[in-house]
Amino acid sequence: MTDSLTVRDNRTGAEYEIPITDGTIKAADLGQIKLNDDTPGLATYDPGFVNTASCRSSVTYIDGEAGILEYRGYPIEQLAEKSNFLEVAYLLVHGDLPSKEQYDNWVHHITYHTFVHENVKAFMQGFRYDAHPMGMLMASVGALSTFYPEAANISDPDNRQIQIIRMIAKMPTLGAWAFRHAQGKPYVYPDNDLSYAENFMSMLFKMSEVKYDPDPRIAKALDTLFILHADHEQNCSTNAVRSVGSSQVDPYSAVSAGIGALFGPLHGGANEAVLKMLRRIGSKSEIPAFIEGVKAGNERLMGFGHRVYKNYDPRAKIIKKACDDVFEVTGVNPLLEVAQELEKIALEDEYFVKRKLYPNVDFYSGLIYEALEFPPEMFTVLFAIGRTPGWLAQWLELVQDKEQKIARPKQIYTGERKLDFVPAAERWA
Ligand code: ACO
Repeated sequence: MTDSLTVRDNRTGAEYEIPITDGTIKAADLGQIKLNDDTPGLATYDPGFVNTASCRSSVTYIDGEAGILEYRGYPIEQLAEKSNFLEVAYLLVHGDLPSKEQYDNWVHHITYHTFVHENVKAFMQGFRYDAHPMGMLMASVGALSTFYPEAANISDPDNRQIQIIRMIAKMPTLGAWAFRHAQGKPYVYPDNDLSYAENFMSMLFKMSEVKYDPDPRIAKALDTLFILHADHEQNCSTNAVRSVGSSQVDPYSAVSAGIGALFGPLHGGANEAVLKMLRRIGSKSEIPAFIEGVKAGNERLMGFGHRVYKNYDPRAKIIKKACDDVFEVTGVNPLLEVAQELEKIALEDEYFVKRKLYPNVDFYSGLIYEALEFPPEMFTVLFAIGRTPGWLAQWLELVQDKEQKIARPKQIYTGERKLDFVPAAERWA
């Protein structure tokens, strides 16, 4: 067997042999296929990158057909059950599980970098009272680049590490403050005695008590949700981080772009859309009519379908279990019944079966977030906090990858050519 592709250009009759490596051909190799020397070479047209690998990566493995997700080779189910978010963050960023000393060091540093410069606080307080917390998070993470200008020195490994620690550490602080801002409540400073998830809860919910006392079951559920969101290989926001990072800008600017991408309803905003949808459906009896509307193409069943998973999203299974733990503390969210029935009906329906549409990570996460009394605008902020180590692991890989170049796709130009410009005064005369 030869690892190559023989291509015959039927326009010219010429044949080309293109090497196949790791199940891919290099798009640049197609450039040699030309009608003649004066025309550009053949290119691929792939809006949305549906069949284009943009990098080599050893961070996350997904087999969408089989419903498998692994971080650095470890199955998500085992990490969610037996690890914790900061250990998973270490694994993603460093590529290996930490020794006891490495773990303690990592947790210590992240814990002690949770505070932000007081001017960040003033900056956040300047937002309008009803500012969307994702907008506040995106802006404040971008603004951190001005507080740490040395972050621009991305070729220095020690410098990269400290920015990574800072970003993982400060994200809950910024996210919690965005939450408090909308409620007109004072921002709460980090409590370094608490774990990552507990400290986040303290910054979100603490009022006049001297010390916030987090419910360990809720803290565990939040920690699990962070683990489930920690990375997902080349998704829209990670691609945004890599694309912006490919210009060699500092990591705060790159991650801020990722937060922008995550904000969109087709990506991280889907859980908010799921909840709105469930609320609109309201009761089990309304489900058949809703499903008919989806099948007629009037709208989508939010929280279903995935570009990669053509099977049950493994994260959705774990979230379903976390639902039980959270509802034990908060009481059952009445929309859970509607969601479960919707899932059951959809999974038996020919339309969804044929298109391999299964619940994704967002189908149940919104129900948990709502039970925890987060307003829907906060859901994507929680996602962003969880995804930060993944973005940073991918960014780190990008900046050390000699094969990477500045992201700059081609286009197929469809506009006019060689028009004669007539000045406005003449056109409007
Ligand atoms: N409801 C109804 N039909 C759907 C849905 C859905 N949720 N998702 C896909 N389809 C249908 C499409 O209409 C299309 O049908 P057709 O072949 O008859 O035209 C077919 O399934 C394929 O859909 P595409 O849009 O081509 O699939 P793509 O991979 O581009 O989209 C996406 C994936 C965006 C996630 C899509 O399934 C969707 O919009 N889902 C709802 C939003 C959602 O839950 N997003 C969260 C994703 S997870 C995350 O980002 C964390």
